[in-house]
Amino acid sequence: MGRQFNEDNLTAEVVKRLGKTKNARQRQIMASAVKHLHAFARDVHLTEEEWFEGIKFLTAVGQKCDDKRQEFILLSDVLGLSMMIVALNHKTAPGATEATVLGPFFAHGAKEYGYGGDLRVGCTMKGEDVWVSGRVLGTDGKPVPNAVLDIWQAKADGIYDVQEADAEFELRGRVKANAKGEYAFASYKPKFYSIPMDGPVGELTKATTGNHMRPAHMHAIVSAPGYQQVITHVFVEGDPYLDGDAVFAVKNSLVAKYKKVNNAAEAKKLGMPNPFLKLEFDFHLSPAGKAKTKARKAIAPSDALA
Ligand code: BEZ
Ligand code: FE
Repeated sequence: MGRQFNEDNLTAEVVKRLGKTKNARQRQIMASAVKHLHAFARDVHLTEEEWFEGIKFLTAVGQKCDDKRQEFILLSDVLGLSMMIVALNHKTAPGATEATVLGPFFAHGAKEYGYGGDLRVGCTMKGEDVWVSGRVLGTDGKPVPNAVLDIWQAKADGIYDVQEADAEFELRGRVKANAKGEYAFASYKPKFYSIPMDGPVGELTKATTGNHMRPAHMHAIVSAPGYQQVITHVFVEGDPYLDGDAVFAVKNSLVAKYKKVNNAAEAKKLGMPNPFLKLEFDFHLSPAGKAKTKARKAIAPSDALA
């Protein structure tokens, strides 16, 4: 302990006091955070008025959060921190599907569907009909039996069900793949959309990058016993925002083509209108326990996630 601290010796004293932290990892994280925060303040010579603005901003971010809205996740996403953490923790094994951000619109408790389920049922807004199908495979190319694909996406107006008052689940579901690793479901083609702009993160975005669009995508969390869960997106080839994603999540390997099909017999067999769109996408999972880095904690239906 001591006194008479100034800009040259204050950081070292804070870090020294943090030395009492029992948990070694917490000690390391706190010491590093303090060093970087002090360096940031010194770097821009932060004024008291500016820091008070920062505190007001963080307060507004907290006040915008409720059981449906997570403004801190959005902040982390637009600062690129979410994708930085995904990149650090998911050095994709060769051949495995790349991971991306979870985003704020995942919801637990979605309905379960078998092979060929129709996620359009109950959707309040029509869109372009799409038959989505593919396989869940290991990185060895062998089928992964009985995987579950948690799917969610925006509607044709770019809005998610959970963004609406008195929302019912729409265009989301837990789709079970079959014993051969095959999955299929009917949905609507997703549309590009803006991240929520009616809160402090929106204000910050307007004042800084102006970059608030996300290219069209479907979200998927693919899980199977004995394999690492992957949290990812499938993007729409040709989307105008692929190179300007507000949350930096686009990977070339996750961009797929929505092919137009005009075939009455095939449409009838699949229970689709003719013409319709077809998206074929295979997911590749790494075996559990073979990761170079720590696996992301698997999301289970019981997890409480805002
Ligand atoms: C999303 O894809 O749902 C999303 C991700 C990050 C910020 C906003 C939305
Ligand atoms: Fe999304």
